[in-house]
Amino acid sequence: MAKLKTTFFCQSCGAQYAKWQGQCTSCKSWNTIVEELIKKPEKVAWKTSSSSAKERVSTPLKISEIDTTKTPRLDTTDAELNRVLGGGIVPGSLILLGGEPGIGKSTLMLQLSLKLPYKTLYISGEESQKQIKLRAERIHPSSEQCYILTETKTQYIFKQIEDLAPDILVIDSIQTLQSDVLEASAGSVSQIKQCTSELMKFAKETATPVILIGHITKDGSIAGPKILEHMVDTVLQFEGDRNHVFRILRAHKNRFGSTHELGIYEMQGTGLRIVENPSEILISKKDTALSGNAIAVTLEGMRPLLVEVQALVSSAVYGTPQRSATGFNAKRLNMLLAVLEKRAGFRLGAKDVFLNITGGISVDDPAIDLAVVAAILSSNNDDALSDNFCFAAEVGLSGEIRPVQRVEQRIMEAEKLGFTAIFISKHNKLGLKPNKIEVHLISKIEDLLRFI
Ligand code: TYD
Ligand code: MG
Repeated sequence: MAKLKTTFFCQSCGAQYAKWQGQCTSCKSWNTIVEELIKKPEKVAWKTSSSSAKERVSTPLKISEIDTTKTPRLDTTDAELNRVLGGGIVPGSLILLGGEPGIGKSTLMLQLSLKLPYKTLYISGEESQKQIKLRAERIHPSSEQCYILTETKTQYIFKQIEDLAPDILVIDSIQTLQSDVLEASAGSVSQIKQCTSELMKFAKETATPVILIGHITKDGSIAGPKILEHMVDTVLQFEGDRNHVFRILRAHKNRFGSTHELGIYEMQGTGLRIVENPSEILISKKDTALSGNAIAVTLEGMRPLLVEVQALVSSAVYGTPQRSATGFNAKRLNMLLAVLEKRAGFRLGAKDVFLNITGGISVDDPAIDLAVVAAILSSNNDDALSDNFCFAAEVGLSGEIRPVQRVEQRIMEAEKLGFTAIFISKHNKLGLKPNKIEVHLISKIEDLLRFI
């Protein structure tokens, strides 16, 4: 009997070892190394046999001679997705869409498959054809070009592809695929690696774009292997809070475009809807202004986005005051509180401080700092800010108000939404003269106190 060959893989970074060990030497995580069965490849899934390899001998070309005119991008009919991808899908590209379970990856891709004016093959290893049809009926009136296949073995999938010759392939999800070449179970590092490389070969040889859906582990990396990210051309991430309706589509890596763009969707009963003006939905227009609320003009990717910051400052019940932040970095909150204590003389050391960014989104843009400070001060004094004010500046360790990038774009967005005053850093160079909105230039936290 042939001896079974096994190898050990780290489930988090994909490193390979000859024997088991407790800690992965390359990514330093503990207890992530598992044994997987390997069988030598006898038959290869996609036609990689010597015949096709011999036909396609690649020769060096001068870069000026390489013809790129023949590859127009495929229009996805979804403006947000087109923008995130850098103008559409490049033929032969391998796209990985990652996201937490239940966030709406299958919905987004099914919606895309139904709308595309190309022959699309949607392969699901997770749901039956009937279940997909039920979901599809809710999303979009029927499409004549969308084919559904429920299959997990790559060998069978390639057989179907040869008969059908689709223009686009969607795989839901890469973790359910299994190749005959390996003995390991579906979802293991070696299987994911093998199936992805088979699909990559198929994509490159036939110039058919392949979209892979991948689940994400708790710590936010695409489950199992980071290696997948190296293999594909584009990594998209679908994120959001499952309890809220907003979803953000981001490009983490893109060989054919920038990674600064992002798309915003709203999950509805009938699928995902593009949100054209997210700021309008994220800020609630109230009749009476409430203390502890401030509006920040942040930048998500290239787009200005107005978000509402809410703070609650109350006397600490326990000896150690509580600090909690949702949608904002808790360490940064502590830093801002220390700045307020030291530079502006507020005694917040004995206060509980809670901070929340409404709409379930999380913001990394440092331009939100000034709004956070304003919201905390407003709650501390129990004095509402005018709801026609908005803020866009970073706060430094010595209490100075620092400039932020693309300030003019932010001012224009605030003006468009009807705000009457915006607070920015004195050091921001202003080229334009806004006509309706009043721009307050401030240099220290103390300057802010004069206004609020
Ligand atoms: P799904 O696409 O299955 O998530 P994923 O593939 O990322 O695991 O979507 C899951 C959620 O989306 C589900 O909890 C219900 C919700 N949903 C809607 O609100 N409206 C819809 O039209 C659809 C299809 C799903
Ligand atoms: Mg799914």
